[in-house]
Amino acid sequence: MMCALPLLDGRVDLWYALPETITDIAILDRYRALLTPEETAESQRFAFERDRHRFLVRRALVRAVLSAYTGNDPGAWVFRRNEYGKPEVAEPVGMTLRFNLSHTAGLVVCAVTSGRDVGVDVEALERQPADLERQPADLERQPADLDVARRYFAPAEIATLERLPEQRRQEVFFQFWTLKEAYIKARGMGLSIPLDDFALTLSEDRPPAISFAAGCDGDPDEWQFAQIRLQGRYQVAIAIRLPGPSRLTVRLRQTTPLVSEGEWLPLP
Ligand SMILES: CC(C)(COP(=O)(O)OP(=O)(O)OC[C@H]1O[C@@H](n2cnc3c(N)ncnc32)[C@H](O)[C@@H]1OP(=O)(O)O)[C@@H](O)C(=O)NCCC(=O)NCCS
Repeated sequence: MMCALPLLDGRVDLWYALPETITDIAILDRYRALLTPEETAESQRFAFERDRHRFLVRRALVRAVLSAYTGNDPGAWVFRRNEYGKPEVAEPVGMTLRFNLSHTAGLVVCAVTSGRDVGVDVEALERQPADLERQPADLERQPADLDVARRYFAPAEIATLERLPEQRRQEVFFQFWTLKEAYIKARGMGLSIPLDDFALTLSEDRPPAISFAAGCDGDPDEWQFAQIRLQGRYQVAIAIRLPGPSRLTVRLRQTTPLVSEGEWLPLP
């Protein structure tokens, strides 16, 4: 049995795996054995093998990661989804661990908290040529440029982007995108929350902060955010419902699910 990890209130543990490095047939068979019949059917609906593989790794990741905190058998977790699709632990009943998953080409991440709403989003900053070839459907959903921001983002975010020199714009666009996505994922309500109902403010010396448009539901003091650049090419954003004065702290760990838990890494 794995050693149970402690998880402090106000902390987000961010675990990540690199699916393309996990190719051992025996390991993949262990991952497949963890899938429920519904998950097996879901995985078969992906047209591309690479998407099936990423799905398999994230299912194994969430099970292995949660078990690292409790010592439970990774196969014993039962999940349910809320009406907007957000998964949460259904069994064992009464479990306080919460998690959220995100993935992009080459990376899957799982953010874990103790009893706090959490959302995570990851985007690859640059598309690789292989992604362009293999993932046309995915690409249609990818953020592209200022036009997307003008259509969906809050006025203050659009103004920030318009003020930036062009070479900085793409990076900041991805920061807004991932932060906004992390927030709606923490709320668990998907795109039923209009993306211009709330705005993120970026600052050199403080974590990102949220504000809400007049008449929109939300308390800025309830939410904290963190941003991490992983492996030089992935932008990760985390949102947690954590009212002050507690401060969000983040730990980072690379893992190969069920094989190696990895070590806590210094935040880049
Ligand atoms: C489904 C959604 C929550 C995230 O989608 P996404 O960014 O394409 O995908 P990610 O890889 O970040 O996250 C997918 C995972 O989020 C989790 N998820 C699904 N629905 C969720 C919800 N309502 N809330 C939180 N998490 C959710 C699931 O674990 C899912 O993986 P799984 O199906 O394998 O379990 C939703 O926000 C969406 O459709 N976004 C589309 C992208 C977009 O337009 N973003 C605008 C940002 S500016």
